Amino acid sequence: MKTSKFLATALLALSAIGASAEPLPEVVMHKDPNCGCCGKWAEHLEANGFKVKTVPERDMQTVKNRLGVPARLASCHTAKVGNYVIEGHVPASTIKRMLSEKPAVRGLAAPGMPPASPGMDVPGNSDPFDVIAFDRAGKTRVYEQIR
Ligand code: CU
Ligand code: CU
Repeated sequence: MKTSKFLATALLALSAIGASAEPLPEVVMHKDPNCGCCGKWAEHLEANGFKVKTVPERDMQTVKNRLGVPARLASCHTAKVGNYVIEGHVPASTIKRMLSEKPAVRGLAAPGMPPASPGMDVPGNSDPFDVIAFDRAGKTRVYEQIR
């Protein structure tokens, strides 16, 4: 009895190590060189363990169209992480949740520029905002409410 309980615990511990050892995929962020909040968002991701590669773009609309971001969900920067698209100031914790849950969606968006989102960080602002999941057909749902 004792041995099997020990084994179960040991296996759990091992699988936890396995999960945390899985490296985070690189984030490739497309941004307008004149936009500053994108860089702040990249810093937030780096502070949370992501590697971020920045690709300057003159025409972000073309990038958003190419990556299938629905127009009504648009923000400033558009990123790829693994096979997912990230639009705007989505928190690192939500991206990590998506990477572990692997939902069947095209990506996540924080539409507009939520003042309390990472990278915007408007002082004194804690207005809630939603992270929206979108699929290839443009169907959307709330993926996480940030409070
Ligand atoms: Cu922004
Ligand atoms: Cu920006």
